[in-house]
Amino acid sequence: MRGIAKDRFVPHNGAWMSKRFYITTAIDYVNGQAHIGHAYEKIITDVIARSRRSLGQDVFFLTGLDEHGQKVQQAALAEKRHPQEYCDALAADWQALARTLDLTNDDFIRTTDPRHKEFVQAVLAKLHANGDFYKAGYTGFYSAKEETFLTEKDRRPDGTFDPSYGEVVELQEENYYFKLQAHQQWLIDYIEANPAFIAPDYRRNEVLGFLNSQKLEDLCISRPIGRLNWGIPLPFDPNFVTYVWFDALVNYISAAYAHGDPTVCAAIGKAPVVVPAPLELWPADIHVIGKDILKFHAVYWPIMLKVMDLPLPKQILAHGWWQKDGAKISKSTGNTIDPVAVIKDWGLDAFRFYVLRELDIGPDGNWTDAGFQSRYSAELANGLGNLVNRSLSMLKRYRQGIVPARHDELAADAAKATDETKALVKQNQLQAALQSIWGLVNRANQYVDQTAPFKLAKDPAQAQRLDEVLYNLAEACRILAVLLCPFIPGTAHKIYAQLGLSGSPDQLALAKWGGLTAGQAIGEPAPLFPRRDVETR
Ligand code: ME8
Ligand code: MG
Repeated sequence: MRGIAKDRFVPHNGAWMSKRFYITTAIDYVNGQAHIGHAYEKIITDVIARSRRSLGQDVFFLTGLDEHGQKVQQAALAEKRHPQEYCDALAADWQALARTLDLTNDDFIRTTDPRHKEFVQAVLAKLHANGDFYKAGYTGFYSAKEETFLTEKDRRPDGTFDPSYGEVVELQEENYYFKLQAHQQWLIDYIEANPAFIAPDYRRNEVLGFLNSQKLEDLCISRPIGRLNWGIPLPFDPNFVTYVWFDALVNYISAAYAHGDPTVCAAIGKAPVVVPAPLELWPADIHVIGKDILKFHAVYWPIMLKVMDLPLPKQILAHGWWQKDGAKISKSTGNTIDPVAVIKDWGLDAFRFYVLRELDIGPDGNWTDAGFQSRYSAELANGLGNLVNRSLSMLKRYRQGIVPARHDELAADAAKATDETKALVKQNQLQAALQSIWGLVNRANQYVDQTAPFKLAKDPAQAQRLDEVLYNLAEACRILAVLLCPFIPGTAHKIYAQLGLSGSPDQLALAKWGGLTAGQAIGEPAPLFPRRDVETR
């Protein structure tokens, strides 16, 4: 995995102990193949991570897999395989997907990693010693599909549970509980005092609405091994394994511990892990998650952290669901779209662009093949692709590919797109950033039409004007490569190469007008997004 590149862990200039921008995705259940919803979450996280690096920040990006629990055990059983063997086989596919998506994750955690299991046990032992748990009989309902406990309050008016919970079974058993009630008020106060803690706003309001209207029930954190053995054994009672959500949430700090994070090491009281260059990661800057798992991240996780004496993450960023024909795309219902097939057909950057451009982080989106094809054709093939190809082809044809003297006619348009993009990516407004960048694409295409370089080329008296136009176009293409690099890195690198530039467009500081120097030779123009005749498909 490219993310584990050694150089990321090498201290430079003694600055290695400054806190990294730490961003995570949810860890996916390994009970099937990934669909576009999973890919979407990983891509938005990757774009935020790349944007922050492009702004000059040191970033740590974590993703991984959630491998325990009933849902995974059932899936393994259905294939008559040992759960570990089942997870290992699927984990290879999910890790391959991370590479297919060109994620720049710095680590990939699996909750069956020994380093994670030992850490979860240390947390459980600490909280047990603190008196945060008690044992009691439980009578209630359980949804294996959502790995969640349900109560009478979760019933709909007609007495049934929402179909999204799948089969709901009644349980009667002894279990360990995590005392939550004492935490309700400070959590409400905290969320109210920290408006950026849960984003977008309407998700924060949802959490506050829930906390203000319902008394928090204690959280069951164990499963008796008689019914579920695919989990991390409780360190204080061998008859139980840990509830999968307690195990899963801890991944965000067990990974930090594994990299020697001093805050986590101190709080858990586990011997500091020895790594050549410890990283300061905690608290996380952003947990990117889907709206369906907001309660786990915005209610249970802060309380778990508080009792561990750890600071809370700075932000929980909840995205919406991709739907198909109005229904949530889901592994369990099978109405999935395979991201790998789309990428094979259309290319990675077309896929990355579409999901980011189509859907803002927050609301739900509806996948349609027609919508995908229409954005591909209008914005990539005829928009960006056409701009770069005709700009560079004309430079090649009329000036033998040699960059003319600097001219600043499009400089203000480029500066506007650059300033807006910098501000928007800091606010995780990725869709709006792409809109702003396309403002420059459209302006530059319009400039070609207005200045008509193909006509200027026929008139020797217009030679200087042609130089000016060609410089403006080539430099606009260069700036676009820099602005687009976090979003569609492959395309950004291609534009740089076609411009004959040897470096990488991966620093936003490069988006400063005048980077191309007169006399420099460009490379070979080649179509970035070939036009496709949709009708014949
Ligand atoms: O919930 N559209 O795993 P998961 C957008 N293991 N996002 C979607 C989606 C869709 N149609 N379907 C799923 C889990 N997701 C837990 C997480 S974190 C400590 C443990 C998102 O495989 C979903 O919202 O069911 C979640 O953020 C992620 O994919 C993994 O979902
Ligand atoms: Mg799910």
